[in-house]
Amino acid sequence: MISLFRILNLEFKSVGSKNKLRRFKENETFANVVQPSREEVMNDSLKLKGNWRKKFFKNENPLVLELGCGKGEYSVNLSKAYPEVNFLGIDIKGARFWRGAKTALEEDLNNVGFLRTQIELVDELFEENEVDEIWITFPDPQIKYKRTKHRLTNSEFLDKYRKILKPGGFVHLKTDSEFMHGYTLGLLHGLGEKIEYAHHDVYGSDGAPAAVTNIQTYYEQQYLEVGKKITYIRFKFR
Ligand SMILES: C[S@@+](CC[C@H](N)C(=O)[O-])C[C@H]1O[C@@H](n2cnc3c(N)ncnc32)[C@H](O)[C@@H]1O
Repeated sequence: MISLFRILNLEFKSVGSKNKLRRFKENETFANVVQPSREEVMNDSLKLKGNWRKKFFKNENPLVLELGCGKGEYSVNLSKAYPEVNFLGIDIKGARFWRGAKTALEEDLNNVGFLRTQIELVDELFEENEVDEIWITFPDPQIKYKRTKHRLTNSEFLDKYRKILKPGGFVHLKTDSEFMHGYTLGLLHGLGEKIEYAHHDVYGSDGAPAAVTNIQTYYEQQYLEVGKKITYIRFKFR
């Protein structure tokens, strides 16, 4: 006999997928969302490549990416704090960044947008030196050996970031994962890259820069509730 719990659970799941479908459809109508096909990206036919400032943001201001933006808290809040900078949140999950895109439209924020794609394609989506800075906010640390290739600070990803970043452009990594923090620091030291700032507890006594502590993401709030320390690294390539 089918239990009440199972019925409620199925009901909950179907409401969840209806919401997702609604968000996917809405994303298609949002002027601040770009959802290129893989073919478009791989055939080099995406007209925005090399032209994100001029064609998407309609200005020549600096371009900052947030990789794995989730609901887009960093992109949206940084866009409010720095109206002279363009922010682009990137995530494969459109139903998540729908929240950020909707907020940006409701609040008339013209310097923030969202791109639905795999981060693995980042060097196909942007020209060399097109990006000023990159934020990586609470990435999955991908601890299991088989998942290493998906870790957003492994050396393959770093090579892609190096390619698209302007010389001297910062990468910011904010994470609750001591593993990810230590792994990334170790890798950067080994490569001889320039670590500008590193903190193992950004809300601790000597604190971290305002952009690090003033904005909290959805995942961050959950980690803080269970007492986890939040770490931060800012680095640039030689
Ligand atoms: C743990 S969540 C963090 C979300 C958000 N930054 C936050 O702090 O609330 C990681 C996010 O990265 C996205 N993501 C992970 N790997 C990705 C990839 N290779 N390409 C695109 N998105 C990815 C996931 O879809 C997810 O939304």
